[in-house]
Amino acid sequence: MNFERTLIITGGAGFIGSHVVRLFVNKYPSYKIINLDKLTYAGNLANLRDVEDRPNYRFVRMDICDFEGVLELMREERVDGIIHLAAESHVDRSIKDPFTFAQTNVMGTLSLLQAAKCYWESLPEKYEGKRFYHISTDEVYGALEMDGTLFTEQTKYQPHSPYSASKAGSDHFVRAFHDTYGMPTVVTNCSNNYGPYQFPEKLIPLFINNIRHRKPLPVYGRGENVRDWLYVEDHARAIDTIFHRGQVAETYNIGGFNEWKNIDIVKLLIKVTDRLLGRPEGADLDLITYVTDRAGHDLRYAIDSRKLQKELGWEPSLQFEEGIEKTVRWYLDNQAWLDNVTSGDYQKYYEQMYSNR
Ligand code: NAD
Ligand code: DAU
Repeated sequence: MNFERTLIITGGAGFIGSHVVRLFVNKYPSYKIINLDKLTYAGNLANLRDVEDRPNYRFVRMDICDFEGVLELMREERVDGIIHLAAESHVDRSIKDPFTFAQTNVMGTLSLLQAAKCYWESLPEKYEGKRFYHISTDEVYGALEMDGTLFTEQTKYQPHSPYSASKAGSDHFVRAFHDTYGMPTVVTNCSNNYGPYQFPEKLIPLFINNIRHRKPLPVYGRGENVRDWLYVEDHARAIDTIFHRGQVAETYNIGGFNEWKNIDIVKLLIKVTDRLLGRPEGADLDLITYVTDRAGHDLRYAIDSRKLQKELGWEPSLQFEEGIEKTVRWYLDNQAWLDNVTSGDYQKYYEQMYSNR
């Protein structure tokens, strides 16, 4: 079958990646979508059951650090675009194990860039019609005070955690490949995402699951830290818009103009979860447990996404309360998915499935 375009989406078995893969497979039947994912603890093919049999979808289990493997795949499939989401993504893990974050996020991104460079520069048309789109985070900008300021695309990089430092390093390499070799790159920095299929080590799915099972809710510090939350499908739509219409070498911030203190989110989650489970209002407020703060915990993140809104017309579609209700419902309706990823059975299954290949 001849496809109009062939794209690699890295990290497509993860939380945001699976929403991006689903959107592209459904919206662009004339594109071939290759989901390249190592299937770490955070990668789960069950996130993509509804699209796995589509003729325009292919899954390849591969490490982004495997330079030869990626180069061969690009040649074999004649890849003309990369949307790069694969990463180690959890701040708490980066505090315990920074090496893995540098390896995947910095060296993995560099390896992917170098493979794309080798393949695209070998073609007669070189970089014409090609695109390398790198998905990054607002955490590279550091932390804001409680003073109403926002991160813009001009804000100086000042990462604090090993995770954000590794993402900052990867962003710099992507921009360097544009400035040095002329690769058509684009970078976006997004705020906190929430929604279905998020691994339950992150605040929102972890707390929904704990409320359901009446387990303690470990709030770091006093719960005063602020995050700017965006529904994951809105991020996926922004990625679609920017992949197709964003200007080469530009950076776009993506965010919801939706700042919440952690403790207020926790109370909202308790309210919505208790209501949907038919429990009396406030029944689970006593689950809130204040614990030792995260080391180097950034106080506040808030994104100014006016550039994306003005230049490309993207807007978030959901109000937070509506998105949270949808999200809580999804986790309550998909307890089997949660049990599967928390038990680790799914990892054993993949190990077995791929060990003989
Ligand atoms: P995730 O942890 O849910 O998924 C990461 C995916 O990458 C997994 O499928 C994993 O198997 C895969 N992966 C990890 N290492 C790999 C490697 N070496 N080779 C190939 N695949 C590998 O992450 P997420 O929350 O979906 O985040 C996706 C991207 O978006 C990341 O780059 C992250 O920095 C960025 N981001 C996330 C958020 C958020 O709120 N979650 C916000 C802004 C930006
Ligand atoms: O801002 C974008 C970033 O958002 C992404 O780049 C990261 O990949 C993603 O993990 C997320 O980072 P955070 O550290 O903000 O997300 P997390 O869900 O881990 O925590 C959200 C807030 O809740 C943060 O202030 C820490 C706090 N928290 C988190 C957990 C897991 C708690 O108080 N208790 C918890 O148990």
